[in-house]
Amino acid sequence: MGATAIMQTDFLVIGSGIAGLTFALKVAEDCPDKTITILTKTQSDETNTKYAQGGIAGVMDFDKDSFNKHIEDTLIAGDGLCNREVVEIVVREGVERIKEIIEWGAQFDKDKDGDYALGREGGHSEFRILHHKDVTGKEMERALLEAIIRKPNIRLLSHCFVLDIITQHHLGFLITKSTPDIECYGVYVLNLNTNKIETILSAVTLLATGGNGQVYRTTTNPAIATGDGVAMVYRAKGRIENMEFIQFHPTALYEPGVRGHSFLITEAVRGDGGVLRNHKGEAFMERYDERKDLAPRDIVARAIDHEMKINGTEHVYLDCRHFSKEKFTEHFPNIYEKCLSIGIDIAKHMIPVAPAAHYSCGGIKTDEQARTSIKHLYAAGECASTGLHGANRLASNSLLEAMVFAHRAYKDAILNPQEKPGAVLINGSQGKKVDYAEVPNWKSEGTNAPKEMILITQSVKEMKLLMSDYVGIVRNNERLSRAMKRLDLLYEETEALYEKTAVSPQLCELRNMITVAYLIVKCAEFRHESRGLHFNTDYPSKSIMVQNIAL
Ligand code: FAD
Ligand code: SIN
Repeated sequence: MGATAIMQTDFLVIGSGIAGLTFALKVAEDCPDKTITILTKTQSDETNTKYAQGGIAGVMDFDKDSFNKHIEDTLIAGDGLCNREVVEIVVREGVERIKEIIEWGAQFDKDKDGDYALGREGGHSEFRILHHKDVTGKEMERALLEAIIRKPNIRLLSHCFVLDIITQHHLGFLITKSTPDIECYGVYVLNLNTNKIETILSAVTLLATGGNGQVYRTTTNPAIATGDGVAMVYRAKGRIENMEFIQFHPTALYEPGVRGHSFLITEAVRGDGGVLRNHKGEAFMERYDERKDLAPRDIVARAIDHEMKINGTEHVYLDCRHFSKEKFTEHFPNIYEKCLSIGIDIAKHMIPVAPAAHYSCGGIKTDEQARTSIKHLYAAGECASTGLHGANRLASNSLLEAMVFAHRAYKDAILNPQEKPGAVLINGSQGKKVDYAEVPNWKSEGTNAPKEMILITQSVKEMKLLMSDYVGIVRNNERLSRAMKRLDLLYEETEALYEKTAVSPQLCELRNMITVAYLIVKCAEFRHESRGLHFNTDYPSKSIMVQNIAL
């Protein structure tokens, strides 16, 4: 493996989901003379975005709904930790962003009068979810990728695995968390098409690397969701916060033997009247919350977890037998087909479901312009922690947040032009001038091809198991401390392997996931209360101190 090419681009985007593509399109439209490079680690459409089902929340019907109601619902779900200003920004600006993606070609379902057919999900007081059947994300990703292809100044490079962001650390300076002006100059990327490590330099880099569901054994997230962006920023000494707030979706399809990427049964099914039942057939949600099946996700997921534990079952059921088959297949054709393919006819059988890791509410800390604590580095989408979700995300708010903050990052980057690549930068921390020409190639001397993959795959299994068993929906101090001890060992073994082994996506993802798992456990250990998605039986109530946990 060689470390060769150096490439320069005006704007660098890591990730081809809704956040990365929105940012790239906007810059490309505004600055036709600038180059935008998007890197994505597998195929261009393999993203969490593609799997989004329920839809995107936005106030469209001002007769019944209002910005204030959406704001209040978001704040209630966030359980005291949302930044109200950010909530207002996302709810109010979100509608403009929805209109833009419709202009770019995304289609949302309409009713027979030609108005948008709005759905409802847990925690929403009104019908406000725009959707494209039960494949909303696939439709949005399609529209964005097609618009991207029409832009000659965008280069989308698939199968390019970003290893690290480049900062003064790579120029030989000592960087700590208290270094005041850490700067990002671009990234090192393993180009899987050539098997070479390349250096890509840019005055503006946006991280849009998505979520980290793969840290758990059962998740709705595809294999790409390994928290790479968060791990890279943590390594670069940037700010990360609120990682303990992992959202478990209550209703992933339970298929014995299927773990890595579970099929989702969208919350919109409960929005349309689906009822959760335990193995005795009891509709149990009324025992847990007056909003029953449409209570916020943390409550529903904990209720299911409790039912499964007291009854000793591996799943509960979602009952849709009372639906008209025609209506169900019209709104949820993908779910209907998937269930049928494994022998479940929703008109006759209940759907077996269980909670699965779904969404990371915390992440790379950003300000209202999507700026991270590292200069020239923005973050948007699921990898970012903007302050919108607080301790628990309201359903269908994440696609909205990704577009709003991709837009804000674009505005900020355009309005405050950064020095061009190749120009001289001031290294604030050391008071020394740094030229892009000083950025060294990736160092791979002394590393060899891995002798056996089992050293990596077994560690991945161990990590997923310990995170699921000790740091899942319900936590306690002893479980967290056990998780940390085992993670320490995995960390040491993986770092030793990393030192002597040529980099590969498998090894780097393991390393990134261990870092993310560590951050989740560390934040969970610091939070001495139960709030939103973080439930610790040793501290069952809420503390009067309302605070974010930043590392
Ligand atoms: P993603 O869409 O996940 O894209 C991440 C990109 O980063 C990918 O292109 C990936 O290749 C790239 N990447 C990552 N690491 C690297 C690396 N090291 N090098 C190069 N590239 C890298 N939200 C809603 O609002 N409504 C819904 O209905 C909804 N349903 C969902 C259903 C499912 C099954 C799932 C999993 C999520 C759902 N969500 C929903 C959440 C939402 O889909 C995601 O939060 C959102 O799509 C994230 O978008 P993103 O652009 O941040 O990241
Ligand atoms: C779903 O469709 O249930 C997922 C919605 C979301 O995660 O926002």
